[in-house]
Amino acid sequence: MNVLKHILAGLIAVFLLSACQPNNNSQEQSSIDQQVEALLEQMSLEEKIGQMCQVNGGGGTLNDDFKQMLKEGRIGSILNEVDVTTINEIQRISVEESRLGIPVLIARDVIHGFKTVFPIPLGQAATWNPEIVREGCRVAAAEAASSGIKWTFAPMIDISRDARWGRIAESLGEDPHLTSVLGAAMVKGFQGDDLADENSIIACAKHFVGYGAAEGGRDYNSTLIPPRELHDVYLPPFEAAVDAGVRTFMSGFNDIDGVPATGNEYLMRDVLRDKWQFDGFVVSDWASVWEMINHGFAADEKEAAKRAINAGVNMEMASTTYEDNIAALISEGLISEAIIDQAVREILRVKYEAGLFDNPYIAEENQYQFAKPAYLEAAKLAATQSMVLLKNNKQTLPVSKNKTIALVGPMANQAYEQLGTWIFDGDSTLSVTPLMALQQELGAGKLLFAQALATSRTKHTKGFKQAIEQAKKADVIVFCGGEESILSGEAHSRANIDLPGAQNELIRALKQTGKPLVLVVMAGRPLTIGAVSEHADAVIYAWHPGTMGGAALADILLGKANPSGKLPVTFPKVVGQIPMHYNHKNTGRPANPDSWTHIDEIPVKAPQTSLGNESHYIDAGFTPLYPFGYGLSYTTFAYSGLQLDKDVYAQDDRIQVSFELENTGEVAGDEVVQVYVRDVAGSVSRPVKELKAFKRISLNQGDKTSVMLEIAIQDLAFHNIDMEKVVEPGEFQLWVGGDSTTELSTTFKVE
Ligand code: BGC
Repeated sequence: MNVLKHILAGLIAVFLLSACQPNNNSQEQSSIDQQVEALLEQMSLEEKIGQMCQVNGGGGTLNDDFKQMLKEGRIGSILNEVDVTTINEIQRISVEESRLGIPVLIARDVIHGFKTVFPIPLGQAATWNPEIVREGCRVAAAEAASSGIKWTFAPMIDISRDARWGRIAESLGEDPHLTSVLGAAMVKGFQGDDLADENSIIACAKHFVGYGAAEGGRDYNSTLIPPRELHDVYLPPFEAAVDAGVRTFMSGFNDIDGVPATGNEYLMRDVLRDKWQFDGFVVSDWASVWEMINHGFAADEKEAAKRAINAGVNMEMASTTYEDNIAALISEGLISEAIIDQAVREILRVKYEAGLFDNPYIAEENQYQFAKPAYLEAAKLAATQSMVLLKNNKQTLPVSKNKTIALVGPMANQAYEQLGTWIFDGDSTLSVTPLMALQQELGAGKLLFAQALATSRTKHTKGFKQAIEQAKKADVIVFCGGEESILSGEAHSRANIDLPGAQNELIRALKQTGKPLVLVVMAGRPLTIGAVSEHADAVIYAWHPGTMGGAALADILLGKANPSGKLPVTFPKVVGQIPMHYNHKNTGRPANPDSWTHIDEIPVKAPQTSLGNESHYIDAGFTPLYPFGYGLSYTTFAYSGLQLDKDVYAQDDRIQVSFELENTGEVAGDEVVQVYVRDVAGSVSRPVKELKAFKRISLNQGDKTSVMLEIAIQDLAFHNIDMEKVVEPGEFQLWVGGDSTTELSTTFKVE
């Protein structure tokens, strides 16, 4: 009967619409809006509240209480249910046995792949390749959708400037522009062209906002983000996600200057809805509504629910303050039913757009479509492009196939660990480890193996002897270490970000053999490998590279692929340099190599003076271990002929940046060209440089190409002294090159 009502409402809407004949998209949207209104009108308050509740799934079992809740329409969304039979049963009960037949939205953290695992997002960011990033999310969406999932909590687009923070692994790094471009690519990958397509899932921009600025890199900690920095650094990736069509947002755990993100009316109403015109919905993070009591922002659950609802959180994840308090809040006049109607309207709209009302079920033939050859190929390409060559003295790499390699280390054959954080569904039996791939490439005779350390944290050294014996027999040593997947990710912040366990000791011992040493690091964050990498002749940063990580690495080691990843985040020399990011302010006393004196060179009893001193550490200096954007190749690239199309630009102009790029080495390769801009003087001081454009370019050896990149003058806008977003007239400097320290530059003016 109720299902009939739905159909009737839908038919009336379609009839009304065909009379007006608007274009297809707006026709669809207004048809959805009318269906939503028709449904909303029939809903009781309890049913509305139900739509606002997200509960954790039963892991393949549905008990009677759960079924009863579904029948009563008390669940809007379920997370962490991945069994298709159970999901179909959940939908059957919701659609056929509840009064209004509203399907449930099935959610899951599908962060960097489902069964086929792609590199961690930070690794994907190192590809600087939106196409590959989009493709990775397309694959993840198809696999997850075949398991009944219709909504992922990704992308995470929190700007991350602190390598201690475990969740830097899930981020796209420190830069607003790179994060915006790749975050948008992720949204498009997950959602596809049509949200209702059986291979599309709804994306969720998280964590709104500022979560990455957790004090000291301690997860869940408070943040202090000045308004200008919030608007110019932390918010842009979220705006880009809205522009890319993201349909949901997740509010963060953190507070910003005392206001928890989950209760932040300014951010979720004024910015997200009014300014950006977002008309999807916001889900809280796990119990983050309830946690506002811990924050001291709400006295009890009722107040927490009230603050989150007023701030614009449509759906509560995990905790039950909405379910338990909304009715009372309305009857006591503390919130209006209109605000609840609006919250539910936004949820229902997304459910309609996702095609759930048309078909909530997974068809038999669409179930469990995992690890197709094309998916594995895409994962391998992403891993290959994500690996960053940080050092390659005397062309240690690539290793010629007729040499014998000693493969050593705790990450060399770890099918599970190489997948990284947030891989609930990742299938480690699909993994190709470095050992497996090198064995296949070289055959047993040319490959010697010693794990030496059971895990990345192992401290005892009893495995060293065998490793050193193997190393002595080989031509080249490849040490594959880093950190296990559980050492990064949520709640896994580290105060010391050196290689854990006895890895440094092992590397030093291996170096003693006198053999060329290649250091491969698989990790969820930048590690402080400065001192130890001095013992290495070559260093590859492989992040947690996912299912095909070993195959990608073998190709790079043996020269079948040329490394092309670039760092999406600054690598500090020592943890005490954090926070460290390339787009900092200049300060009144910028660091100066000519006047910097190392701690060991300061004369004894040198007189106290601040004159001539600049912003630096006397022990660690002022430069990072590796700068943002950095990464080597087996070839070399030369930049020349930098030119802009004008000297002076108007506010609505676009700058055309042209230059020549030449592959000056011996092999074909990819270069990620990067354009940085500095606004020399403003009504407030501006960063020393900011990434404004980039492009990955493939070139054969000896080839030269003309490159042209465009930057809209409006992309140089920032929040001025009056907090208005403007491009201030004046002088600008522009650099082009292969990393953020490039010196090839020119200037221009804006009127
Ligand atoms: C995390 C979110 C995640 C959610 C659901 C939370 O602990 O902060 O990023 O989406 O759990 O698993």
